[in-house]
Amino acid sequence: MKLAVVEGDGIGKEVIPEAVKVLDALSLPIEKVPVEIGYGKWKKTGYAITDEDIETLKNCDCILFGAVTTPPDPEYKSVLLTIRKELDMYANIRPVKPLAGITGVTGKSDFNYVIVRENTEGLYSGIEEIHDDVAYTTRVVSRKGSKRIAEYACKLAKMRNNNVTIVHKSNVMKSDKLFLDVCQQTAESGDVNYSDTLVDAMAYYLITYPEKYDVVVTTNLFGDILSDMSAAHIGSMGLMPSANIGEEHAFFEPVHGSAPDIAGEKIANPVAAILSIKMLLQWYGYNNEASLVERSVNYTLNKGIKTPDLGGEYTTEELGQAVIDSINSQVETVPE
Ligand code: NAD
Ligand code: IPM
Ligand code: MN
Repeated sequence: MKLAVVEGDGIGKEVIPEAVKVLDALSLPIEKVPVEIGYGKWKKTGYAITDEDIETLKNCDCILFGAVTTPPDPEYKSVLLTIRKELDMYANIRPVKPLAGITGVTGKSDFNYVIVRENTEGLYSGIEEIHDDVAYTTRVVSRKGSKRIAEYACKLAKMRNNNVTIVHKSNVMKSDKLFLDVCQQTAESGDVNYSDTLVDAMAYYLITYPEKYDVVVTTNLFGDILSDMSAAHIGSMGLMPSANIGEEHAFFEPVHGSAPDIAGEKIANPVAAILSIKMLLQWYGYNNEASLVERSVNYTLNKGIKTPDLGGEYTTEELGQAVIDSINSQVETVPE
């Protein structure tokens, strides 16, 4: 496997090295290709990402990505969105599952759902018109885009509890009526149980009754917001991994950003990045290794080895090393 490794900016440079060390501890035949992308590169060279970088990413089997900073500069185009679009990675998969020894701010521990976020259109279309007194962003919802994400969600539901919740705002936006219709038809023909909920109410239900959900499918921006909110169930932004999947490419990254407020302090939680490695291994078919990584993360956290976001005093590297130690000792009796 040829894996592109993009650390990016801020804490991306701190958490990705830990994730890579975890991968190395598994001694798999994986060739790593470092790629420099992001705001740091932009400041140095005037380019945050080049055509050559995109080619390199396309030529790898998959990508491990840290986080990038988006400066408030109107000339700056988000590299993350460029990559998702260029590589047509239409499904953003964000599992929300408790970890051992950690109770999130909601106090809930019986949830296990996955947000399936449409990743290429919606309000992220990039079609904008900016004038002095008014600015427009075009929200794009296509039948094709809705169908492929609905199919992904239904396929995933079949492997889980066969239940899909379609989240939308069709009472206000006709674009979401199309999304809803296509998702309903797809679930109906795929024999998947489904219901639908307006996104504002969904924010309330999801935080109050997370145990009721299995697969949550939604449009781009709603998925973005609901996933950060869901990190409150798990316990920190630093605990939530994700996968961006397309027909030809796959890209694994923590859900969190470059966290400029803590960057450089060596206290960022590396677990989201390490669990992104777990998703990568699973995607590639290294299922035993994926489960070993997950068990080792749970074992480590359950022992109380935590970074300050979880109330602990361990550093990024210490937590990363503890996960590696646990992998090396091939722990068997740890909580799922
Ligand atoms: P953020 O996710 O970077 O941080 C939100 C809060 O969570 C901060 O208080 C931060 O300290 C905390 N946090 C995040 N990750 C953590 C970790 N691993 N360990 C401990 N605490 C953690 O969101 P933001 O502050 O809104 O955005 C900062 C920058 O990151 C912006 O430029 C934004 O555009 C960018 N961003 C990038 C990505 C990405 O590259 N995937 C994702 C989100 C935001
Ligand atoms: C995420 C991030 C990105 C998004 C930003 C950085 C463009 O918040 O991956 O959730 O909005 O998709
Ligand atoms: Mn986000």
